[in-house]
Amino acid sequence: MTYIVNDECIRCKHMDCVEVCPVDCFYEGENMLVIHPEECIDCGVCEPECPVDAIKPDSDSGAEKWLALNADYSKVWPNITVKRDAPADAAEWFGKPNKFEEQFSPKPGKGD
Ligand code: SF4
Ligand code: F3S
Repeated sequence: MTYIVNDECIRCKHMDCVEVCPVDCFYEGENMLVIHPEECIDCGVCEPECPVDAIKPDSDSGAEKWLALNADYSKVWPNITVKRDAPADAAEWFGKPNKFEEQFSPKPGKGD
């Protein structure tokens, strides 16, 4: 089992999650983060830290798509361990529909 980041993170990217992960397994895209499924030790401490509820166990229904996305992009995006400011318009994107289809960026973030 692992935890995964889903599309609720897109353009919200609060980054509270990275500060609590004991194994530093978050990776940064331009407008969302993902978890490396093989590095995650399933501790669960990141799940309640996310203000937009974007982190879930991969055993949740509907998580398969996000597990694949996390697995794919954690291989190519840079590692991130230190929180930076969320985007200025993060609140506007909270809960918006079709974020993956319309807003997902495959570009890497800055990492640290
Ligand atoms: Fe890191 Fe634990 Fe969250 Fe996995 S469940 S990403 S190990 S904080
Ligand atoms: Fe995204 Fe939530 Fe982390 S919005 S960056 S998963 S705290």
